[in-house]
Amino acid sequence: MNIILLGPPGAGKGTQAQKLIKELNAVQIATGDIFRYNIKNETDLGKQAKSYIDEGKLVPDKLTIDLVWDFLDKVEDGKSILLDGFPRNITQAEALDEGMQKRNSKIDYVVNIKVPDDILIERISGRRVCVETGATYHIKYNPPKVEGIDDETGFPLIQRSDDTEEKVKTRIDLYNNTTAVLIDYYDKEGILITIDGTKTPDEVTKDILKALGK
Ligand code: AP5
Repeated sequence: MNIILLGPPGAGKGTQAQKLIKELNAVQIATGDIFRYNIKNETDLGKQAKSYIDEGKLVPDKLTIDLVWDFLDKVEDGKSILLDGFPRNITQAEALDEGMQKRNSKIDYVVNIKVPDDILIERISGRRVCVETGATYHIKYNPPKVEGIDDETGFPLIQRSDDTEEKVKTRIDLYNNTTAVLIDYYDKEGILITIDGTKTPDEVTKDILKALGK
């Protein structure tokens, strides 16, 4: 089963992806995580993507699509795929259709996680991530056992460079103006599932699995 997690910044795509890959035995493709990994390791891709991410803008389609196609090439045939953060516009959606066709496969479901803007801003401004693994916490909703320290690795928690309130607003506007058109795109294909993302993370996971028939 191949699934796209769609939703604005802070909707909980990453949080749900972590839970769903275990339940669905799927491989996750998270474009934002891949970009951040490359920025941290100062690769060519990281250097090209950094300024866009820091400003809350989309990384150019060519770079992003090439990255996803490369990733798809490496995924074992028949393995379920969970896409988090891709596609973000019609050009990327069409490229994904093409990439899946090359694998003799298709997207089965698009899970649209709906959360109002005021909650998104609170979630993102309270998010902290492990400097080493990118594991996600929230100072109020999902705090670490020791303030500022990752539970598993003991590495410090930091705020993402694009998580300031000003940049979050830019990213939400970008989602509304560019990415939200995909809701209609996938609704017309009859594969859209809309989920209330304001419940607790476990409740949201349960609702998604139920909607997927799991
Ligand atoms: P990306 O990393 O994909 O960021 P995003 O889409 O803005 O999404 P976020 O990671 O901010 O939020 P999320 O929905 O995953 O929420 P999370 O689970 O962390 O992309 C970053 C940048 O990379 C982009 O801006 C762009 O520049 C570039 N990029 C990436 N993909 C691209 C593409 N395809 N094309 C071009 N450029 C691309 O949750 C947020 C917080 O809320 C956490 O603290 C969490 O603990 C908490 N939380 C989660 N769920 C709940 C809940 N149910 N209740 C209470 N708190 C919750």
